[in-house]
Amino acid sequence: MRKLFLLIGGVFFFMMSAAIVFAGPHDDCTLCHGVHTGQGPVILTEAPNTTTINPRTGKPMKRIGSLCLACHAPEPDGAGYRPVDLNHTHPVGFTPDPNKVVLPPEAKGFPGEEEDIVCTSCHNQHPSNTNYMYLRWPSDGGENLPKVCAHCHQKQSSQEIIREIGTE
Ligand code: HEC
Ligand code: HEC
Ligand code: HEC
Ligand code: HEC
Repeated sequence: MRKLFLLIGGVFFFMMSAAIVFAGPHDDCTLCHGVHTGQGPVILTEAPNTTTINPRTGKPMKRIGSLCLACHAPEPDGAGYRPVDLNHTHPVGFTPDPNKVVLPPEAKGFPGEEEDIVCTSCHNQHPSNTNYMYLRWPSDGGENLPKVCAHCHQKQSSQEIIREIGTE
C-alpha cells in the first residue's frame, strides 16, 4: 500500500514539475491570435492600443507597442494584464541616440520601426521562447538580469558579464 502511495505521489510530482517547466502565460496561441475573429495586424484578439501616450514621443506607440499594450497597458486603455506604465518603464518606442546605445540586430523592430527600441527588442513573446519573462536572452531564470542589460549597454557592464554572454 505504502509503495502504491509513493508511486502515485511520484507520478503526481512528475506531472506538476512538467507543468511548471512548460506552462507560461503566453502558451495558448489563441490568447493573442483570433483565427477568425482577429483585429488589426497579425489577427490579434484585442484591438491595438492607440490611446496610451508614450512620454518619450508624446504620441501613441507604433505597431508593436500598440499590440503588446492592448493587453499590458493599465485599464482603461489596455486590458490591464500585468500592467506596464510607460511613465515608469525603460525608454521604449523611439530611435535611440547611437552615441548612447547601438541596438544588436536581433533587437531591431518591425517595418516602419526597424531602428527603434520596442517591446520586442527585449522580449520575444512566443511560447517557443523559454527564457524568464519571455526575454530575448537568458538571465539564469531572472537571477542574473545584468546579462540581459549587457547586450545593449556594454559601456556600463562589467567585463565579467560581457565575457559570460560572449560564450552563450
Ligand atoms: C502574447 C501574445 C501572443 C501569443 C500567445 C502568440 N503570439 Fe504570435 N504574434 C504576437 C504578436 C504581437 C505578433 C506580431 C509581432 C511578431 O511578429 O512577433 C505575432 C506574430 C505572429 C506570426 C507572424 C510572424 C511574422 O514574422 O510575420 C505568426 C505566424 C504567429 N504569431 C503565430 C503564433 C502561434 C502559432 C502561436 C502559438 C504557438 C502564437 N503566435 C502565440 C503575439 C502572440
Ligand atoms: C491578448 C493579450 C496579450 C498580448 C497581446 C500580450 N500579452 Fe503578455 N501576457 C498576457 C497575459 C494574460 C499574461 C499573464 C498575466 C498574469 O499573469 O496575470 C501575460 C504575461 C506576460 C509576461 C510575463 C511572463 C511571465 O512569465 O510571468 C510578459 C513578459 C509579457 N506578457 C510580455 C508581452 C509582450 C512583450 C507582448 C507583445 C509582444 C505581449 N506580452 C502581448 C496577455 C497578452
Ligand atoms: C530594455 C528591455 C525591455 C523593454 C524595451 C521592455 N521590457 Fe518588459 N521586461 C524587461 C525585463 C528585464 C523584465 C523583467 C523584470 C524583472 O523581473 O524584474 C520585463 C518584464 C515585463 C513584464 C512582466 C511584468 C510583471 O509585472 O511581472 C511585462 C508584462 C512586460 N515586461 C511587457 C513589456 C512591454 C509591453 C513592453 C513594451 C511597451 C516592454 N515590456 C519593453 C525588459 C524590457
Ligand atoms: C535591446 C537593448 C536594450 C536592453 C537589453 C536594455 N536597454 Fe537600457 N536602453 C536602451 C536604449 C536604446 C536606451 C535609450 C538610449 C537613448 O536615450 O537614446 C536605453 C536607456 C537606458 C537607461 C537610461 C534611461 C533614461 O531615462 O534615459 C537606463 C538607466 C537603462 N537603459 C537601463 C537598462 C537596464 C538596467 C537594463 C537591463 C535590465 C537595460 N537597460 C536593458 C536599450 C536597451
